[in-house]
Amino acid sequence: MSDRIHTLSGYLYEYQKSVAQPEEFWARIADSFHWRKRWSQVLDWDFKKPDVKWFVDGKLNITENIFERHLYTLADKPAIIWEANDPDEPGRTLTYRELFREVCRFANALMEKGISKGDKVIIYMPMIPEAAIAMLACARIGAVHSVVFAGFSSNALADRINDCDAKAVLTSDGNFRGKKQIPVKAVVDEALQKSSVETVIVYQRTKLEVQMTEGRDYWWHDIIEGESTENIATEMDSEDMLFILYTSGSTGKPKGVVHTTGGYMVYTSYSFKNVFQYTPGDVYWCTADIGWITGHSYIVYGPLLAGATTLMFEGVPTYPDAGRFWAVCEKHKVNVFYTAPTAIRALQAYGTEPIEGYDLSSLKVLGSVGEPINEEAWHWYHTHIGKSNCPIVDTWWQTETGGILISPIAGITPTKPAYATLPLPGIQLCIVDADGKELKGNSVEGNLCIKFPWPSMIRTTYGDHDRCKQTYFSTYENMYFTGDGVKRDHDGYYRILGRVDDVINVSGHRMGTAEVENAINEHPLVIESAVVGYPHEVKGQGIYAYVICDLSNRTEDNLINEIKTTVSKIIGPIAKPDKIQIVPGLPKTRSGKIMRRILRKVAENSLDNMGDTSTLLDPEVVNQIIEGRK
Ligand code: PRX
Repeated sequence: MSDRIHTLSGYLYEYQKSVAQPEEFWARIADSFHWRKRWSQVLDWDFKKPDVKWFVDGKLNITENIFERHLYTLADKPAIIWEANDPDEPGRTLTYRELFREVCRFANALMEKGISKGDKVIIYMPMIPEAAIAMLACARIGAVHSVVFAGFSSNALADRINDCDAKAVLTSDGNFRGKKQIPVKAVVDEALQKSSVETVIVYQRTKLEVQMTEGRDYWWHDIIEGESTENIATEMDSEDMLFILYTSGSTGKPKGVVHTTGGYMVYTSYSFKNVFQYTPGDVYWCTADIGWITGHSYIVYGPLLAGATTLMFEGVPTYPDAGRFWAVCEKHKVNVFYTAPTAIRALQAYGTEPIEGYDLSSLKVLGSVGEPINEEAWHWYHTHIGKSNCPIVDTWWQTETGGILISPIAGITPTKPAYATLPLPGIQLCIVDADGKELKGNSVEGNLCIKFPWPSMIRTTYGDHDRCKQTYFSTYENMYFTGDGVKRDHDGYYRILGRVDDVINVSGHRMGTAEVENAINEHPLVIESAVVGYPHEVKGQGIYAYVICDLSNRTEDNLINEIKTTVSKIIGPIAKPDKIQIVPGLPKTRSGKIMRRILRKVAENSLDNMGDTSTLLDPEVVNQIIEGRK
């Protein structure tokens, strides 16, 4: 296969070629896909606007490249292996042929409900094969899916439904997660009080009693009944929208990152095959949720485009016990395992006993994603899960990048703990200082930018192109700014240092501090708040909130609990602050700006060097905050 890297010199050669002749490079990769009409131009771009088009005028459907392209060779091969939350519930395996039929059936049902090309469809579902079927059925008919993590609250869901003006919501009655049963449909009903959609389709998963609104709500099993298992894919332009995925930024409102069809297809498939060195027959398992970009690119699209077997797991790592991941690896003979550092650290806390007794000899490659992996977790993963035999690919990327940009190629790039190592072919990285000056050579540290387009990059933020321009393309001229700090060491290896903006990364979930502050401020007794991240042993970063409030008719503890509930209601439990400190004031400059640097230091408990506090309006407030620390 011409798109496969086999050796380190092969990687270096491909990388050089991708920089010297990017258009020729990506045209060669794209040629292995099925295009109904070939592109007239590989790339057209201008980072100033920004306007990026890949495979211009090319016509295709991404699901044709998953199904029709593979059916001669892969029809009876497993496409999805599904493992239920409860280990005693039988799982399901869908072959490529079976998955194709289900996708067609559901695509036909969606069309009957009046959903067509360009319509927005919200998917708010548990980790069951139907979630993937829903995404693929949308792609089949050209509808734009927007998956919302099923842990988000009804408020957050309503915001997303309204922002993209969704025509339909696909959901389930309930959701099993560990010991809990979550009433998913009830959350949708609440969200729909603040927004309107024409159609709600409900998959019956838990048999929880739900309210069905006549003329709006339909059972999944009812609407697919009698539908044909054949469907002719809708023709899409290479730059037609494939999906919108909301993510947090440094300002309050989550933004809808837009990905388009052709480039996303080419890059997710290429990066999947190469990073994980996927070989036909391997069982691949990514533990992410489809509500995040990792689930989109590396549970659904990348693996299925590559003809791989992708495992989907409904549950959580600690149910029924902390050995569950390893039980699943043994049961399904998992070859490639891809998870987040927060999961590794959480399991590490249980020691090695939960691993003992499980046969992990099928594992060949381990992956990490979502946040910096600390060296201790890296070694634990390498030694106890990989038995010192499996390369770890520490993959750096973002919702906006669509696919992995910096990562070792498994078994080929020599690894170094906590380093994402080297860029993939096509990725032209650039480290800049605060003034935007490029820092050349090795042993440098600065802000991570990318100076040339890659096929799966963000095209716009839905409904607000200027926001896309301001957030990513205006900080430094002619460059995409990632928001991450990075170090390039003496070997030229990259180590991601974390966000340099007001975004925090809690258990691999991205959160805007302003978003959490807005939620806290919704509590009627809160006057003002400021949120920062602080180092957390398991979560990577925890949320520390400083809150000024009216305590006249509440105890401090009661109010803190109420604030946590408010945040859970407005965003979801993942945004609940770990620590809330009630403070008499916040450190502000004379112009009224909160000096977060000081709040971060207090939260980190590093009080030695508070820096210059002379510009503060009231320096005394800092001492009061220090004294009242949690
Ligand atoms: O700070 C980086 C961190 O996660 C951010 C992107 O978050 P999100 O869009 O939710 O996507 C997560 C899954 C791709 C980045 O800006 N991040 C992601 N992967 C790594 C990482 N930080 C360090 N090392 C990584 N491997």
